[in-house]
Amino acid sequence: MSNVRRIFVIGAGTMGHGIAEVAALRGLNVTLYDVKQEFLDGAMSKIKWSLDRLAEKGTIKSSSEVIQRIATTLDLESGASDADFVIEAAPERMEIKRDIFSRLDRSARPEAVLATNTSSLPITEVSESVSAPRRGRVIGMHFFNPPVIMQLVEVVKGKYTSDETVKATYELAGALGKQPVLVRVDVPGFIVNRVMARFLNTACLMAERGLHRMEEIDAAVRYGLGMPMGAFELSDYIGIDVLDDIIKAMIARGFSMTPCGLYSGMRSAGKLGVKSGQGFYAHPGSKFRKPELDRSLAAKVDPILLVAPAVNEAAYLLREEVASRDDIDKAVRLGLNYPKGIFEYADSYGVDSVIDALRRLEEALGSREYEPDPLLLEMRSAGKLGVKSGQGFYAYKRRGE
Ligand SMILES: NC(=O)c1ccc[n+]([C@@H]2O[C@H](COP(=O)([O-])OP(=O)(O)OC[C@H]3O[C@@H](n4cnc5c(N)ncnc54)[C@H](O)[C@@H]3O)[C@@H](O)[C@H]2O)c1
Repeated sequence: MSNVRRIFVIGAGTMGHGIAEVAALRGLNVTLYDVKQEFLDGAMSKIKWSLDRLAEKGTIKSSSEVIQRIATTLDLESGASDADFVIEAAPERMEIKRDIFSRLDRSARPEAVLATNTSSLPITEVSESVSAPRRGRVIGMHFFNPPVIMQLVEVVKGKYTSDETVKATYELAGALGKQPVLVRVDVPGFIVNRVMARFLNTACLMAERGLHRMEEIDAAVRYGLGMPMGAFELSDYIGIDVLDDIIKAMIARGFSMTPCGLYSGMRSAGKLGVKSGQGFYAHPGSKFRKPELDRSLAAKVDPILLVAPAVNEAAYLLREEVASRDDIDKAVRLGLNYPKGIFEYADSYGVDSVIDALRRLEEALGSREYEPDPLLLEMRSAGKLGVKSGQGFYAYKRRGE
């Protein structure tokens, strides 16, 4: 049960207006802040439009009852002064976040939790813009787009974040109807973006180096791995510029990866995916068009090559105790819509086969990032191969047991 009654959401853009809507839908009082009245007005009309659709479907009685719980302000200090919980969703620039948090330090109640929805900036650095006694109250609360629909929230501990703040953030996520996972170490990209980047970048490198055509890769992802979208389809959906920024931000913070050259080339050519009408595929009128992919194309690519780099990343996160096995699997299921957890994929293919696939990628693409994680090697030595040996990341009952 969360004690939060009033939330202050900073930034009324894509994420902020969605978070405000979710909170109001769940009966919380919200104050929404932005730097210009027109941004607040735009956000409120988007919220109203979305609530009207929910009212039409009978999910809520009326939009006005929900919308009255949202107040707007252009005054950051007064908005912060009576909030129990602050969620910052301003642009992804450290100087903006630091300025906001130092102002919150002077205006928010001492017990208020100060959360940032950053996707790629270090929580610890954000928290260093508040005075030392308050740093324990700063935390990452990473929602997914669109917040009204996506269930997952990555709760990210910075160096100073207290357990009490983690508990309050978990409680709020629950009160918002979300599924939190705990990221214990403030690593760049947290769980979902790291796993996703390994998967998408490998697919892209395979196409760039001429190993396979993108349609063959996407068919293998859809029909071989059973994922809802192919790798190039998903890249178009996310936006090539957004993906390029995510990868660059993670690399700048020490994430070891050879970025696929197609992203920056397409970005300079204005091929940004769905939003520009053209990405890897054409999306006429900037509307997402699912490419038609013949099932027979899937047979040309061994699907384990696409999933193995994501398993390797997940193994690293588990070995380094960044997150638990169950939270990593929950994160990929809810954040990437994988039909099963990444460790479940590993167990069904076999840990030995995953290692073999990584070696093949290392040879074909010449990148050191495919070096199998020590956890995988250790599991193979111990005979923990997955379903076939009865024990892998999970335990399996063998027939007759
Ligand atoms: N878009 C996504 O898919 C997504 C997903 C998860 C997390 N995030 C993170 O959420 C944050 C916001 O992203 P977004 O996509 O909603 O961006 P956005 O550009 O849509 O919205 C940002 C809003 O912040 C406002 N703003 C500008 N300067 C400000 C300031 N000084 N103080 C307060 N508000 C200011 C802008 O007017 C705008 O309304 C970023 O940190 C981003 O990394 C984005």
